[in-house]
Amino acid sequence: MLKEKVLDAINNQINAEIYSAYLYLSMSAYFNNKGLNGFANWMFVQYQEELAHSIKFFNYVNERGSRVVLKAIEQVPSDFESTLSVWEKTLEHEQMVTEMINGIMDVAIEENDHATKSFLQWFIDEQVEEEATVTEILDTLKLIDGQANGIFMLDREMRQRVFVNDPTAAG
Ligand code: FEO
Repeated sequence: MLKEKVLDAINNQINAEIYSAYLYLSMSAYFNNKGLNGFANWMFVQYQEELAHSIKFFNYVNERGSRVVLKAIEQVPSDFESTLSVWEKTLEHEQMVTEMINGIMDVAIEENDHATKSFLQWFIDEQVEEEATVTEILDTLKLIDGQANGIFMLDREMRQRVFVNDPTAAG
């Protein structure tokens, strides 16, 4: 059984991961509508990844013999100022998620929950990767500086992204 503070933090995180999925699905729809199908694909894969993250937490709570409590998902934005602003928002969002994961780790450390600390390490590493990937895309977009050719090339590159489920998420 998880201690109450750890359980509350993880239940909140399940909600945050589903919110993230919903946010990226909304961004995928935005790009789709703009004809940027590669960007839309990238965001759709990101949506799938976030859902997989939520399930990873969900399975962990069950595995520890505790109770998942699902809460309401907040409304996500459906319109964005520009292509660049979507990526800026994505980076901001991932930085916030990193803070949340660090916060759960702090609680697990306070509560001497070694199993949860070990479980969370995957997310700590994942966040480093997520922030780095989005920062790279953002840097490329800044270099492109709105030029159609560059956007076209980057969009094509983003068509290649595919969702690969983490086998450890199966629980
Ligand atoms: Fe589930 Fe993008 O962090």
